[in-house]
This record gives sequence, structure tokens and C-alpha cells, in this order.
Amino acid sequence: MSDPVLAAPPRHAKRLSPLKLLRTIKESSIASFAAAAFEKEIVERRFLWRRHVIVNSPEAVKRILLDNVENYAKSDLLRHLLEPGLGKGLITSSGELWRSHRRIMAPAFDPRSLAAYAPPMIEEAGAVLARWDALPAGVTIDAASEMMRLTLAIIARAMFSTSDPELLDTVERGMATYQEVVRPGLFDLLGLPSWIPRRGAAAGRRALAGVDDLIARLMARGKDTPDLLGRLLSATDPLTGQPLSPREVRDEVVTIFAAGHETTAQALTWTWYLLSQHPEAVAELEAELDRVLEGRSPRYEDIPQLAYARMVIEESMRLYPPAHTMSRITLADDDLPLAEGSYRVRRGTLVLIVPWLLHRHELLWNRPERFRPERFAPGATAKRHRFAYMPFGGGPRVCIGAGFAMTEAILILASVAQRYRLRPAPGHVVEPVGLITLRPRNGLKLVLERR
Ligand code: HEM
Repeated sequence: MSDPVLAAPPRHAKRLSPLKLLRTIKESSIASFAAAAFEKEIVERRFLWRRHVIVNSPEAVKRILLDNVENYAKSDLLRHLLEPGLGKGLITSSGELWRSHRRIMAPAFDPRSLAAYAPPMIEEAGAVLARWDALPAGVTIDAASEMMRLTLAIIARAMFSTSDPELLDTVERGMATYQEVVRPGLFDLLGLPSWIPRRGAAAGRRALAGVDDLIARLMARGKDTPDLLGRLLSATDPLTGQPLSPREVRDEVVTIFAAGHETTAQALTWTWYLLSQHPEAVAELEAELDRVLEGRSPRYEDIPQLAYARMVIEESMRLYPPAHTMSRITLADDDLPLAEGSYRVRRGTLVLIVPWLLHRHELLWNRPERFRPERFAPGATAKRHRFAYMPFGGGPRVCIGAGFAMTEAILILASVAQRYRLRPAPGHVVEPVGLITLRPRNGLKLVLERR
């Protein structure tokens, strides 16, 4: 396989000064690392009095997310970034509220539900292909915005039974603006208390005001539709015996809209980028699609046979993890296990788990900067530490939508790659930027070629 140089920010020879670090994190957190961060188990950072620790060892990550999970709460940094928009939805909430809502929502993500979501996924992918078919040959598209719009249409239909174009437009615009205006600032990095107003929080709320109006309209439809919204509207809180409040339902709906489309869109976008750079992988993928599908549209039942398609997506999320950073706050002193000895993490420390680093760690992966779907061949994964690869997180707070996302990504990849090859657009520079998710700064321009 040829090995092109893949888009990634340069690694700094030395640590950045605190001021430069702050500026860089605001712009793109994945651009803030020194080369040594890709080789170490622990990276410490200090902002005046606040200590940040990047935990870069699978066994230590396992302790934080699973073995001693009660000692690590979702961080104030995360809450300041997300709560202005998502309120207390499943990503930001904790304790009993989180537990009872996770229980209420879980059935919408079980295997039977996933099978029922496959037809709308395939139909929406088909609608994109029909639109592309009508374009002149050799046209350039922005795969990032195409994937964003497609996954948004899918989440709206699957979870909320709506295709209202006004809602889709408003969510798309609102969430793009939100990520631009709500960025981590000095107050967040210093851990200043929440009552000190953050720049951007009000602008973030304003960005989603239109979304709130349309969600209120959606909720007014009532609880009888058998979807996630119907489930939330008819649930009773096990603690109070009362229905969820309109605010609680709104927060879960916005959370699922936000978490449920952009991440999968990024996973697919980076997959198209990587395939555009690796014709050999495209050939192997096409051979699998031709063999399994024999020219017909993919179905849910085909997924186990589409093994290479899954491997491509998994390898793409290794190199470009849509959720590139997770953060927690340490509640009491703890000892994190390392290859040799342990590392004492103090109460109040901000702990960062960074799949962008873990997935490119020089000691965990062979030639980590190369695209090699075979790393995810059956058998190959068993040899790796379970927490060396974690695009969906791990432990009790693992992504509730992982199965949904993989089903969707495989069905979209299969539908599109069966009919089109997406080639690099001459002159277009691809640059990954670590905002809340990992986005290509200038979109992803690719040339459409009919197979
Ligand atoms: C490729 C796509 C996706 C990626 C990479 C991804 C990644 C993640 C990660 C890393 C977490 C854990 C965060 C943490 O521990 O701090 C998470 C949580 C979550 N994800 Fe996803 N996600 C994806 C798709 C989805 C989809 C499709 C949905 C919903 C339909 C979804 C809903 C959620 C929710 C609600 C949580 C919070 C779960 C909890 O704390 O109980 N995600 N996701």
C-alpha cells in the first residue's frame, strides 16, 4: 500500500509556553501537543494553580473510566463547553438523573431498534446518491457538509420521526455556530467557579434559540409516536414517579441531535478523506461490496458480511477520532497504574483522555501514522489493550449511540462506495481542527466519479 503523508498538525519540538498553549487550545486543541506527548504515559500541564494531566496509558484510562469510575466526575471544562447548549442531557448530567435517563433511553438503542433504523438510513443515503446522479460528471462536492446533512436527516427521522426541512436547517446552522462561539477559555482552564460568566455561553444559547422553538413544536405532537421522543414524553422518573419536565425532554432531544449526527458525519468525512488517499483500500472495499451485494442496495442483514467496510471505518476513527478528547475531574487522590509503578493524581486535577494521542501513541501502535485497516481484522484486535482504542469512550459512560453510529456508517459507506469513487480535489488543503469534535477546517472537497 502506498503511504501518503496524512493531514495532521505539526508536533512541537518543545512544550508551548502557557500563553501560546492557551491560544492554541482555543484554536485547535489537537495542535497543542509536543512530539513527546505521543510517547509518554502521562503529560502534565499547569495553568497557574490548576494542574491538568493527560492520561496516555490504556491501563490508567481503564481505571478512570471503569475500575474507579466513581472517583472521576464529568469535568467543569466539559460542562462549561456543553451545558449552555445541551443543558443537563445524558452527556453532561450525573448521578441519579443520568442513571434514570440512561435507563429510559437505552431501549431506543437496542439491536431490535437498530434493525428498524436501517431502512431510513439506506433511504436517506439513496436520496443523496439520486441528487449526485443529477450533477454533471466530475463535479466537486464538499463531503463534510454532505455527510453532516445526511446524518442529521437520519437522526431526525430515526429518533424523532421528522423530516421537517426548517428544523434540519436550523439545527445545522445552530450547531455550527455554537462550536465556533463556545470555546475553552482561560477561566475554564483555570477551573474558576461556574458562577463567573463565561464569554461565549450567552452567544451559544442564542445560537440554539431557534432550535429550541422548533423542538417545542416537535414536543407538542404528543407521546404516541413510537420513537425516542415518544419514549421520553411518556416516561416517568423512577425517583419522583413524575413525567420528565419539558426542560428535561428538551435537553435530551438537543443532546441526541448534537451527539447523534455530527460525530458520525465526521467519522464518514475522515473515511472519505482516507479512501481518497488510498486507492488500494478502495479496490478492496469495492471487491467486498460487489461480492456481498451483487449490485443491490445494502441491507441491515449484510452488515456482518461487510467486514472490510467496518475495518475501514474503525481505522479511520483511530486516525481521526471524532471525539478527540474526554475530560474528568478527580474527586479524591488516586494512584493510576503505569507500565512501571504508578502516578499519583491529586483531588481536583483535571484529567484529559485524548484518543487523538492514544490512537497515535508510538508505543501502542506499529507505524501509527499509516492507514492500515488490517489492524482491525478479526484476531488482530484481540492482541491490543481494550482501552488503547476508544473512539466511543468506555465504562458506564460509553457512547450510547455506538451501535447506531456503526450501523449508519457501514450502510452509508457501502451505499456510496458501491456507486461512486471520491477523488482528491486538486489544490484543496485538508486540515483537521480539534473543536468539540474533529472537523476539517475548510470542509473536504472531493471530486465525484461514477463507478
Ligand atoms: C462515530 C460516532 C460517534 C462517536 C465517535 C461518539 C463518541 C462518544 C464518546 C467518546 C462518548 C463518551 C464521552 C465521555 O466519556 O466523556 C460518547 C457519549 C455519548 N454519545 Fe456518542 N459518539 C458517536 C455517535 C453517537 C450517536 C449516533 C449518538 C446518539 C444517537 C450518540 C450519543 C451519545 C450520548 C448520549 C453520550 C453520553 C452517554 C452517557 O454519558 O451516558 N453518540 N460518544
